[in-house]
Amino acid sequence: MNILVINGSPKGERSNTLRLTNAFLAGVCNSQEDCSPAIEILHISQMDINPCLGCFSCWKTTPGQCCIHDDMPSALEKLLWADLTIWSFPLYFFSLPGKLKTFIDRQLPLSLPFMNSHAESGGHPARYDMSGKKTVLISTCGFYTANSNYDSVTAQFDRICGKGNYTTLFCGEGELFRVPELSNRTDEYLAVVQQAGREYAFGGIKEETNAKLQELLFPRDVFERMADASWGIKQTGEKEDVSLTFTKQMAALYNPAAYPGTDIILDMDYTDIGKRYRIILGKTESRVVEQFSEKPTTVIHTPFSVWQSIAAGEIEGSAALMKHLYSVEGDFDLMLKWDDYFGQHKSADISKDKPTSNGKTDIGLP
Ligand SMILES: Cc1cc2nc3c(=O)[nH]c(=O)nc-3n(C[C@H](O)[C@H](O)[C@H](O)COP(=O)(O)O)c2cc1C
Repeated sequence: MNILVINGSPKGERSNTLRLTNAFLAGVCNSQEDCSPAIEILHISQMDINPCLGCFSCWKTTPGQCCIHDDMPSALEKLLWADLTIWSFPLYFFSLPGKLKTFIDRQLPLSLPFMNSHAESGGHPARYDMSGKKTVLISTCGFYTANSNYDSVTAQFDRICGKGNYTTLFCGEGELFRVPELSNRTDEYLAVVQQAGREYAFGGIKEETNAKLQELLFPRDVFERMADASWGIKQTGEKEDVSLTFTKQMAALYNPAAYPGTDIILDMDYTDIGKRYRIILGKTESRVVEQFSEKPTTVIHTPFSVWQSIAAGEIEGSAALMKHLYSVEGDFDLMLKWDDYFGQHKSADISKDKPTSNGKTDIGLP
């Protein structure tokens, strides 16, 4: 099988979406004897692709050949070569990134000029035999869900490929794929994408796998709090200290279902940078404050660099404690139940409205 990946992210290799596409490909390839030589990838951002001039010379003057001499003619050959084309792209303004749309416009030489009277509301027949070719769309978007955000994309591909003639894998919360601290959850999702690739190669993605792909990476409120905190700026537009941004993101993971009945006041005392922030774990949400006077429940005295390494999974939290890389003052119960408070819960877990523990390392501790 010849596979063509069209990477439409302006970020090229650094694309969030490409991580999903690579996982999907790994699944497809696992189920083939050896398909690695048959994969081609086009990084649209690095290609010389000029806008269609609308001159119709590819229909009239030089049938099938565009008059613009750039990277498009060879890309069209790759499209004809491929048995499976995977479109990998971010959602931009509820649609495709501009250069990818230009790439689509430049496919005009692949159509014949004549009207296809069978097509509902008009269309043109293909110049070449495209029967048997398969298409997959893989995309991430920045909102918490992919639901309803891809209507214009599917409307477009319904016309280009035909309704039901292509497979989609759309995922919200796409920016989380670049956050190492959240890799427990994102890797779990990527494993499902890989499974989907394997099943696709054997005839189609199973309903059960599709259902897992529809699950949110994180519940909406947790994701939106993390997303808002990630910009590192205050409401006033002023830049905030990186340690505050980090602490807010950590606090965003708080699972109120673990609320013990009274507020927990956790102080993060970053000893190497002389900063201390308070995280208040309340009945319905967590708050980070910079000014406080009340006595805390628990204080974690830690170099900021150590806590960052723990959060990134470079050091194990409990091992770091044993080595006295940080210390805990006050109620230690919070540390023992860290997973319940700050675990990387899936949306489905949260909806059960009870404390959950996935037994994995989280953005913080053991
Ligand atoms: C110009 C621009 C427009 C965007 N429009 C949307 C949008 O309409 N809906 C959405 O959910 N995310 C939107 N996003 C967020 C991206 O889809 C998201 O960050 C995606 O994960 C990026 O994927 P990539 O790393 O593969 O390029 C937009 C981002 C940019 C830069």
